[in-house]
Amino acid sequence: MLGHPASPEEVASWDSSVFPDGEGLPEGQGSVAEGEKIYQQQCQVCHGDNGLGQSADQLAGAQMALTSEYPEQTIGSYWPYATTVFDMVRRSMPMTAPGSLTDNEVYAVTAYLLYLNKLIDKDDVMNASSLPKVKMPNEAGFINIYEAERKTN
Ligand code: HEC
Repeated sequence: MLGHPASPEEVASWDSSVFPDGEGLPEGQGSVAEGEKIYQQQCQVCHGDNGLGQSADQLAGAQMALTSEYPEQTIGSYWPYATTVFDMVRRSMPMTAPGSLTDNEVYAVTAYLLYLNKLIDKDDVMNASSLPKVKMPNEAGFINIYEAERKTN
């Protein structure tokens, strides 16, 4: 038989969008130190030491500015919202087993990635209230076309 009826658990795992302002973030929390362990065990093989990139994207440590000839689009240099890291990782990483991390583990590895990008301190803990408050350097680098359209109409 091809496929199977979606179980309530599967539906719940797909119905999990987190929005820029933090709406949709679950309960739970994670620290930089916890995230470092998870990263080394489950992410480093593809994303490299300290998020510097391997077979998969570089996630931290950008040296080249976005306006340079060879821009480095890392979380720290490019991503407008910290909450997107949580959403993206929970939805699709590790690439070999998406959806396998608990919410606490996703908070922890998100914290570690933000720490590698020098956006939070080593002792910071990420949860539904702290994560949306993380200031992203490139937040103003995106234009919300829906807002712009609303204003001109
Ligand atoms: C088997 C290899 C592999 C593993 C393991 C893996 N990733 Fe990835 N990851 C990828 C690939 C390939 C991409 C690019 C996918 C794409 O662009 O659609 C990616 C993309 C990402 C991105 C988005 C990067 C960007 O700038 O668009 C993040 C964040 C990320 N991974 C985090 C993680 C975390 C956290 C873990 C561990 C929990 C992890 N990955 C484990 C292969 C992997």
